[in-house]
Amino acid sequence: MRTQVAIIGAGPAGLTLGQLLQQAGIEAVVIEQRSADYVLSRIRAGVLEQGAVDLLDRAGIGARMHAEGLVHEGIELSFDGEHQRIDFADLVGSNVMVYGQTEVTRDLMDARKASQATTIYEAEEVTVLDFDGARPKVRYRKNGGSIELECDFIAGCDGFHGVCRQSVPPGALTTFERVYPFGWLGILADQPPVAHELIYAHHERGFALCSMRSPSRSRYYVQVAAGEKVEAWSDDAFWDELRRRLNPEIAEQLLTGPSIEKSIAQLRSFVAEPLRFGSLFLAGDAAHIVPPTGAKGLNLAMSDVRMLADALIEHYVEHSASGLDTYSAKALQRIWKAERFSWWMTSLLHTFPETGAFGRRIQRADFDYLCGSRAAQQSLAENYTGLPD
Ligand code: FAD
Ligand code: DHB
Repeated sequence: MRTQVAIIGAGPAGLTLGQLLQQAGIEAVVIEQRSADYVLSRIRAGVLEQGAVDLLDRAGIGARMHAEGLVHEGIELSFDGEHQRIDFADLVGSNVMVYGQTEVTRDLMDARKASQATTIYEAEEVTVLDFDGARPKVRYRKNGGSIELECDFIAGCDGFHGVCRQSVPPGALTTFERVYPFGWLGILADQPPVAHELIYAHHERGFALCSMRSPSRSRYYVQVAAGEKVEAWSDDAFWDELRRRLNPEIAEQLLTGPSIEKSIAQLRSFVAEPLRFGSLFLAGDAAHIVPPTGAKGLNLAMSDVRMLADALIEHYVEHSASGLDTYSAKALQRIWKAERFSWWMTSLLHTFPETGAFGRRIQRADFDYLCGSRAAQQSLAENYTGLPD
C-alpha cells in the first residue's frame, strides 16, 4: 500500500488534516487504533475559537455547526461570590462557538465517509518507521494480518499517549511539563444549562465550570484532588459539590438529573520541541497539552493542522519546502501563547494546596485587577476568543 500522507490518529487533528488535504487533491490515509464509536464516545472540549470555526468552514463541514452551535459573546468569571462578565463583543468585537468536540468529530467522520477517503479503524500495533530517511512507512496489524503503508510524510496526530512522539529518538526531543496537583471531574446531563453563558468559578473549595452542549444539555466540571476516582463520586455528590461552589443565586437555578457521562481528566501543561523529525510531523495533543481552563486544547490542535495542511499543500502544489521547514517554529510560537494563557487561567481559578493563604490573596488581587482594568479584560477576551499566529 502507498499514500502521500499517512495520518496517525482519527481525533479532531487527524480528521481535519485529512479533510484539508483531500480538498487539495492530496491523498491521505488515516490510521486509528480505536473504533469510530469509541472515538465518538469521548466527551471532551466544547468551545471553538473563531479560527477553528473558520477552519471547519474551509474544510467544508461547517453547516451543522452553524445550525446547532451556540454563539457566545461573553463568559462570566466569579471569585468567592464576586462576579465579572467578560464581554467579548464589546472588548474585542469577537465571539466563540459552543459546539462539542464529539459533534466536530462526527461531522468530520461523515465527510470522510462521503468522500470515500480511507480510514483504518481498530489498527493494532501501529509503528512508524524510517521517517529520518527517504522512505517513511507505517506498519500495523488488522484482522490478524500485518500491513505496511509507504508514504511521503507521516502526520503524528495520535494524542498525548500516541506512538509518534514516542518513536522519536529521545535525544532529538526536548520536553517541558507541569503536572497540576488536581483534575477536573466532568458530568454531562440532559438538563437545561444553569445560565446562558459559561461560568468559571473560583471558590475556596475549588474551581467549578458551568458549560453546555445545547439548550437542553449541560456540561459541568469541579476541581478534584489528583488521584481521585470517578467511582467515588455519585451524581448526587457531584451536584452537591457544584452547588456549594457557585454563587447562591446561581446554585438555586441549577437543574440536576442523572449523568449521561462522568469522567476525570488530570490537568497538565506539556510541550515537546521540535514538531518535525525528517518526514514525521507532530500536531495537536501528540505535541502539547494545556490544562483545559482556557478552552484551548482543541483550538490549538486545529491551528496546528491548519499550518501543517498549508505546508503540505505548498510542498505538493508549489513544490516549495519552505512551509514544511518553518512549520515547527511557527506552530510553537502559537503553542506557547496558549500554554501561557491556559496556565494563567488555571492559576487564577483553582485552589492550590501548596500555596496556602498567601496564594489565595494573590489570586484575589489578580481577580480584582481584572475587574478594574479594561486592558486586562481585553487581554483575557483576546486570548480566549482567538490567539494570533
Ligand atoms: P486526540 O483527540 O487525543 O486524538 C488522538 C487520536 O489518536 C485518538 O483517537 C486516539 O485513539 C488515536 N491514537 C492514539 N494512539 C494511537 C496509535 N498508537 N495508533 C493510532 N491511533 C492512535 N480540551 C478542552 O479545550 N476542554 C476540555 O474540557 C477538554 N477535556 C479533555 C478531557 C480529556 C480526558 C482529554 C484527554 C482531553 C481534553 N481536552 C479538553 C483536550 C482536547 O480534547 C484535545 O486537545 C483534543 O482532543 C486534541 O485533539 P487531537 O486530535 O490532537 O488528539
Ligand atoms: C468546556 C471545557 C473547557 O475546558 C472549557 O474551558 C470550557 C468549556 C466544555 O467542555 O464545555
